[in-house]
Amino acid sequence: HFFWLRGTRSGPPVEYDSATGMWNVYGYPEAHHILGDPATFSSDTMRVIPKGMIPEGEFSLEGFITQIDPPEHGKLRKLVSSAFTRKVVADLEPRIAALTHELLDAARERGRLELVTDLAYPLPVIVIAELLGVPAGDRALFKKWADALFQRDAKFSLNEPAEERNADIQATLGPWKEMSAYLADHATERRRQPRADLLTRLVEAEVDGERLPDQQVVNFAIVLLLAGHITTTMLLGNTVLCLDAFPEQQEKVRADRALVPAAIEESLRLFTPFAALGRSTTREVELGGVTIPADKLVMVWLGAANRDPRQFPDPGAFAPGRDPNPHLAFGRGIHFCLGAPLARLEGRVALDILLDRFDPLRTDPEDPVRFIPTPTMTGVRRLSLA
Ligand code: HEM
Repeated sequence: HFFWLRGTRSGPPVEYDSATGMWNVYGYPEAHHILGDPATFSSDTMRVIPKGMIPEGEFSLEGFITQIDPPEHGKLRKLVSSAFTRKVVADLEPRIAALTHELLDAARERGRLELVTDLAYPLPVIVIAELLGVPAGDRALFKKWADALFQRDAKFSLNEPAEERNADIQATLGPWKEMSAYLADHATERRRQPRADLLTRLVEAEVDGERLPDQQVVNFAIVLLLAGHITTTMLLGNTVLCLDAFPEQQEKVRADRALVPAAIEESLRLFTPFAALGRSTTREVELGGVTIPADKLVMVWLGAANRDPRQFPDPGAFAPGRDPNPHLAFGRGIHFCLGAPLARLEGRVALDILLDRFDPLRTDPEDPVRFIPTPTMTGVRRLSLA
């Protein structure tokens, strides 16, 4: 029940939370505004996190695209976009379909299907690993790193004592360094011996005579490897959950497959995988009837904005026909998700195949669905099909 209500709110659109020291933004117009004004709402959140909370010099966020503001952001985005193009993504469609069938066949041989372990987790990881050019067979390592790095924000608060915060960060440093070293080795190898993969294209990418420094290639590869797997996992699980809970919509989509992309978009709105984004104010600013001082940490709750009744009538209903559906699940503006075409393609191909192979597509009442406990992430971690 909690999962279905997640993000649904009736309160002020912007609120200060003295327990965490952060400003929470829940309203759609307010979230929309923030994402369109990077000069006032900077993506560099590190600058407002008190000194001492993050051990200095331990890890570099240089070239970490989600944390960078204009004008540097534009330059980096142009470089990485030149390597990670729509064509590169579109060409993956047959491979995604073949992998989906392979994974489902293997699960069928084992017996019942648990969506996350059998399909929703491995599919996007294998796709992004193959695209980057790192061995998909190393995916137990990727999972270990992703789990270590994503669990920590469960209890993030600016009021947390520095020692506790430091201990928390220290626990992520090991996996972070391992992951950096792993990708740095692969990047170095590609410089010596280019291959037909994304890592090589990143190493060789050039805009206005400039190339990416090594550290930035590694950090961008980290973003892709992390973003490339947990989010699409959540998207697939959430979409199956929606179709299970709204059987009449499932029938409609099953009968008219042109509706599959709309079902994916509606799932992204209703269960927004990245439920919150961080920003920092560069000046005092009025928003949603309150004044936020300069240099404050702002949490933009996309999951709540996507259920704001001022923007979406009957926001708790799964309605694939919703038109328009200007949800913010992929963000908006200059940082709009670079992987959106890939996530949408994986979602569409996998869902189409699931509908072909499971009629009806239903969760197993004997094995209750389990959800990811982290507040900033909305997704299932276990979902068995009947
Ligand atoms: C950025 C969501 C899949 C790569 C973002 C942002 C959101 C988002 C909300 C904006 C961050 C911000 O403004 O601070 C999602 C969701 C996904 C998904 C919901 C799946 C359902 C992917 C995939 C990839 C990817 C598959 C790559 C393989 C990126 C990158 C950025 C980004 C590189 C940074 C863009 C920039 O800062 O300019 N994503 N993402 N994402 N995403 Fe995704």
